[in-house]
Amino acid sequence: MVLTVPTRPFPDQKPGTAGLRKPVSVFAQAHYLENFLQAVFDTCPELKGGTLVIGGDGRYYNREAIAILLRMAAANGVDKTLVGRDGLLSTPAASLLIQQSGAQGGFILTASHNPGGPDGDFGVKFNTGNGGQASETLTDRFYARTREIDRYLILEDSKQIALDRVGKHQLGDMQIEIVDPVAGYADTLEQLFDFEQIRALLHDPAFNMRFDALHAVTGPYALELFEKRLGARPGSVINAIPLPDFGGGHPDPNPHDAAAFVKLFMTDDAPEFGAASDGDGDRNMILGRGVVVSPGDSLAVMTANAHLIPAYRDGLAGVARSMPTSHAVDRVARKLGIPCYETPTGWRFFCNLLDAGKVTLCGEESFGTSSNHAREKDGLWAVLFWLNLLAARRQSVQEILTGHWQQYGRDFFQREDYFIADADAARTAIKALGKRLPALTGTQVNGFKIQTADSFSYRDPVDGSESRDQGLRVTTADGGRIVYRLSGTGTRGATLRVYLERHEPDPAKQSLATSVALAELSSVARRVAQLDALGLERPDSIT
Ligand code: G1P
Ligand code: ZN
Repeated sequence: MVLTVPTRPFPDQKPGTAGLRKPVSVFAQAHYLENFLQAVFDTCPELKGGTLVIGGDGRYYNREAIAILLRMAAANGVDKTLVGRDGLLSTPAASLLIQQSGAQGGFILTASHNPGGPDGDFGVKFNTGNGGQASETLTDRFYARTREIDRYLILEDSKQIALDRVGKHQLGDMQIEIVDPVAGYADTLEQLFDFEQIRALLHDPAFNMRFDALHAVTGPYALELFEKRLGARPGSVINAIPLPDFGGGHPDPNPHDAAAFVKLFMTDDAPEFGAASDGDGDRNMILGRGVVVSPGDSLAVMTANAHLIPAYRDGLAGVARSMPTSHAVDRVARKLGIPCYETPTGWRFFCNLLDAGKVTLCGEESFGTSSNHAREKDGLWAVLFWLNLLAARRQSVQEILTGHWQQYGRDFFQREDYFIADADAARTAIKALGKRLPALTGTQVNGFKIQTADSFSYRDPVDGSESRDQGLRVTTADGGRIVYRLSGTGTRGATLRVYLERHEPDPAKQSLATSVALAELSSVARRVAQLDALGLERPDSIT
């Protein structure tokens, strides 16, 4: 029997750049999750009689949320649900499953790289039938619906569905199929890369790799791909068991949060290759002995070498990067004679370009890269791309990078994040900075001439929609660039992100440490934004 439960709106259900993300304590309030889910069901009538994909990154509250979601899907007339075994599906695997099963959409339960556990965060993301995240227009409609909601539908039958075995179940009139979360995804990736070539590299006794799954969702995927299908030595995948609190760690693969893993690679006998992914498996960090690959460089190297990878052998339609990401890929695109698009931060802006066939590869400075094989960024795809590259070129990560910089110049890049407890104060400060910017053009700051200063707006070349206020940009006369924006994915306070970039064509100066190469630009950035006056003495994280 379907119950109609009376409820009233919560004021804070506006989805951010990657779905609705909140502390677990917020999600666990009575009716909170139910209201948001109902808003999606009410907004997407195609789900009635349709197929729905469900899975999450395994974090605390994943199973409870899935139990509620299944009862609500059945009550809202969904015909069939595909659920990842143990409630698991990485974000890219869910995206592929939606596409490949012809589902009308899917719910991905994740707060990505945010910490998990009872005191951590939880999140819900709705992806549409193309496998990509709901557009801003659609999430605005979800939000509008949450503002007026007064009831939700849920099946009275609360029988527990065993998620731990592949098989079929019935809940009310709805069919539930528990599917292997790994196999289909691994099959798809196997078709893109030269597994035989990678296998040969991994069998070389002189080659060692280490993948850190950070006790998040990629463990089972990485074991299957690297150790089982590609023959990497047992133990190459570490922290492979997904845990509800990610083992207490911060599941974000970046040099700040994964500092201990990075340190492993800074010795003479370190493994030749290393990588890590985040909570839901869409991010990647690539390491070589003695080096962390900057994500902007990774995208540029991939673009320059795509012809070595089976799936991209015939060339790339174009590439795209988020605005704060370095210009390294632009230089490669220019040489290849292919278009390079600059989009606002957030993967959904890439999806329109991918759907229209305008780009083949895309990436963000925040350790996200992917291709037209999916409509989400894909951490393990990036790792396989690099492995295939190393196998094809038989060079080290460092050699590939150095060679690339010699040819194109090096784009030094760094992101400095400042945590601001008072979110309103942060918004006021960035607005004030935006107002001050025009007057800065042509002035000198710390001896640097400010060349341009503006706010980034984007007109989508596919649907013509316009997105304003997507970050403040400042360029200096000597070729430096500073970008400021507030994070849209945090759940507490605010985070000011300051992105620094400078191109260095001279090979003799390319081996400088990034922090040294960007030290002066960093002081200019602090001065322009008056960070001292805001009481922000130093960044809380540098990546
Ligand atoms: C961050 C990243 C952005 C990425 C998003 C989702 O968003 O900066 O590139 O798309 O996470 O993974 P932000 O917190 O900066 O809004
Ligand atoms: Zn993620």
